[in-house]
Amino acid sequence: MKQSSRCQNLGRCLVLVILLSSSAILCAQNDNLAPKPPMGWNSWYQNYCQVSDALIRAQADAMVKNGMKALGYEYVNIDDCWEGQRDAQGVIHGDKNFPDMKGLADYIHSKGLKFGLYSSPGPLTCGRREGSYGHEELDAKTYAAWGVDFLKYDWCSASKVYKPEEMQAAYKKMGDALKSTGRPILYSLCQYGLERVWTWGPSVGANMWRTAGDLDYTYDRVSLVGFQQEGLQSFAGPGHWNDPDMLLVGLKKLTDDENRTQMSLWSLLAAPLIASADLTTVSPASLAIMTNPEIIAVDQDAAGIQGHRVSEEGPLDVWVKPLADGSKAVGLFNRGHGPNPVTVDFKKIGINNSAAVRDLWAEKDLGTFKDSFTVTVPKYGVVMVRIK
Ligand code: GLA
Repeated sequence: MKQSSRCQNLGRCLVLVILLSSSAILCAQNDNLAPKPPMGWNSWYQNYCQVSDALIRAQADAMVKNGMKALGYEYVNIDDCWEGQRDAQGVIHGDKNFPDMKGLADYIHSKGLKFGLYSSPGPLTCGRREGSYGHEELDAKTYAAWGVDFLKYDWCSASKVYKPEEMQAAYKKMGDALKSTGRPILYSLCQYGLERVWTWGPSVGANMWRTAGDLDYTYDRVSLVGFQQEGLQSFAGPGHWNDPDMLLVGLKKLTDDENRTQMSLWSLLAAPLIASADLTTVSPASLAIMTNPEIIAVDQDAAGIQGHRVSEEGPLDVWVKPLADGSKAVGLFNRGHGPNPVTVDFKKIGINNSAAVRDLWAEKDLGTFKDSFTVTVPKYGVVMVRIK
């Protein structure tokens, strides 16, 4: 082979290697974004459309100050209503309450936190602001230039321009656009669990997807949606998670027992933990519920397994999540209207004979139990244990 053609071949090989490795990096990039269920805060339930630069900065400050950041909460996400107009080139801008998106992102990053935004595949968001329809690539580039780390992409008016069977392609369009910016941007789908999104979420680049409609503000919704997650466990895992919506803890609509039920169930489900309370005024009791390290450790467990129902007897529900160290996190839930004893049968969670039981909310070892563990659980409440 002549020297020149050898060089040419070598050159082609090099180009091929570079192309292959950069596409591998691009593919892997998205999966690496959420090795554990994402944790953070979102503005919607507390603020609706009353959001501003100052409010978001204050939430970021509070997340650092109140200890949430140290426990893993990291995304500070503006939900709907930040969007202003597009300019003559089609570039989206923040509205009057968000005069400097890059400055806001820089501020959040300076706190060691990450910055999230919201848009829609439709022409309008649910709050009737500018959506990304027809501007997907440009919007993705704009977000990347601002320093966005997370995008929640909400179906809303997309139902007017796409057929249900075009939903996947519509979500892939933004998924691809985000990837091609080269900036790692966690991709969170919000289409209320339509079209069995869990079966195709990862293929459009999603790291998490809502599995149901909004929780709004009631324990009834938390209970209905949360306990309905059974059956979806095989679709979640490192990189991509089922999302039964945000934590209502601290919104003052649920009792402490109900708040503990949501936090426990969401952790057993390996669900994203996205707080929605006002972090500048959240009560010590609610903050303690959102920051119990042993409950968070269940959610964030390295094995990344979504838990499942072990038994259901009337209003009594037992759920288990296998953990990386071989132990089991178990939630004993009481959906009844008064206190009730709830039992977990060790055989049903793969434990023979005796096992040590630790109460995770109380952060206390309860001793060794044989064959089963029974505890009285308050109404709408939970006892969450780790069994080894
Ligand atoms: C939908 C979503 C909510 C929130 C609002 C914003 O209802 O499900 O989580 O983003 O839109 O308009």
